[in-house]
Amino acid sequence: MSSVVIVGTQWGDEGKGKIVDLLTKHADCIVRFQGGNNAGHTLVVDGQQFIFHIIPSGILYEDKRCMIGNGVIIDPAVLLDEIAELKDKGLPVTPQRLLISENAHLIMEYHKQLDLAQEAARSKGKKIGTTGRGIGPCYVDKVGRVGIKIGDLLDKSLLADKLQANIDEKNFLLTKKFGAEPLSFDLLLDHVLAYGEQLTSYVGNVSLELDTARKAGKHILFEGAQGTQLDIDHGTYPFVTSSNTVAGNACNGTGFGPVHIDAVIGILKAYTTRVGEGPFPTELHDQTGEELQKKGGEFGATTGRKRRCGWLDGVVANDAVRLNGITGLAITKLDVLSGQKSIKMCTSYKLNGSTLHAMPSSIDKATGVQPLYEEHPGWDAEIDGVREFDNLPAQAKDYIRRIEDFTGVEATIVSVGPDREETLLLKNPFEAEK
Ligand code: IMP
Repeated sequence: MSSVVIVGTQWGDEGKGKIVDLLTKHADCIVRFQGGNNAGHTLVVDGQQFIFHIIPSGILYEDKRCMIGNGVIIDPAVLLDEIAELKDKGLPVTPQRLLISENAHLIMEYHKQLDLAQEAARSKGKKIGTTGRGIGPCYVDKVGRVGIKIGDLLDKSLLADKLQANIDEKNFLLTKKFGAEPLSFDLLLDHVLAYGEQLTSYVGNVSLELDTARKAGKHILFEGAQGTQLDIDHGTYPFVTSSNTVAGNACNGTGFGPVHIDAVIGILKAYTTRVGEGPFPTELHDQTGEELQKKGGEFGATTGRKRRCGWLDGVVANDAVRLNGITGLAITKLDVLSGQKSIKMCTSYKLNGSTLHAMPSSIDKATGVQPLYEEHPGWDAEIDGVREFDNLPAQAKDYIRRIEDFTGVEATIVSVGPDREETLLLKNPFEAEK
């Protein structure tokens, strides 16, 4: 029995989807604990493409139990679309296979409208570059204690009460502050009730079920979304998402006790990318940046936006190791670096004559730091056909060894291409000793 948490170590898009898919094979239960449909990953299985935004990709395996924890926020229309699409592809999503926490909050139409209106109203330099999916406003309501939980869908009069209070306030904001059209209470209530009818059979107590699974000796995989530098507390605030993306939230976001976590796998892309605005010390504005973007196919899975690209940032990696308690690294997209004459890794930042070894919390400082690099020889050969670590080019092995040395964490997985088979599983975290 083991419980393994997967987190992104950078600004998201580290290739978590592929590693989650790989480890899902070894898990009995797969549970998401934060974020919403701002996340997204694409998997191709037997020539069929699947895009996941909310449901854990473990749903592709018939014998796995997938769960959506209380820390996740759910756009019911998107969830139902995802369920319908899977059904069309021959994968019925039954309540036996998917459990949704009754405490997960709903992303409502007004959250999406407010997200878009707020982002549009932000001046240049202040824009966050949100995904426009209503994430921030939904978490604001959750913390402000006016949110609507998926469990509320079971109680029509409670739902109507909560919705009325929200609609009054949100319409005031939409019309008076942003000059937008008001939303209709009746229409919204009808929609939400209809969603409720379709979703209630999936709703239950995730915490209880995880506890039962753990006691029964099952393997549990906690699937994080986004990345450590997008964490609401520890990331490059305010250019962050609105949830805690770090491993600790696997417990809060599902109702699971911290002492039962056995391993934390940090997904580290062999270089760095970021979508949206905000500081990115190792960003490349040159030909190399473009090469990484093209070769890495660096477009956001949710919004299709081009990702900004840069060298690996060891400061960011070490922040992630500390903040998440990472016990093993999954180094992804190593193949994208093939063909680079030399490869740089940032080892510290310079700011006003001082050397920094952690991302500064002040956004002005984080924007002003200069990365200090060490340089490593690159390799020419394409490595996507390599299946044994020892068969990697010596320079690639040295680069990985250097990352291990710098972070103090061993690489347990190395990904050398997008396909399932293009992965070197050096150590199975479900078999790791605590
Ligand atoms: P929000 O989560 O839509 O509020 O967006 C806030 C910031 O997080 C923006 O810079 C987004 O681009 C970024 N973001 C949100 N979700 C993801 C993700 O899954 N991958 C990468 N960046 C993300």
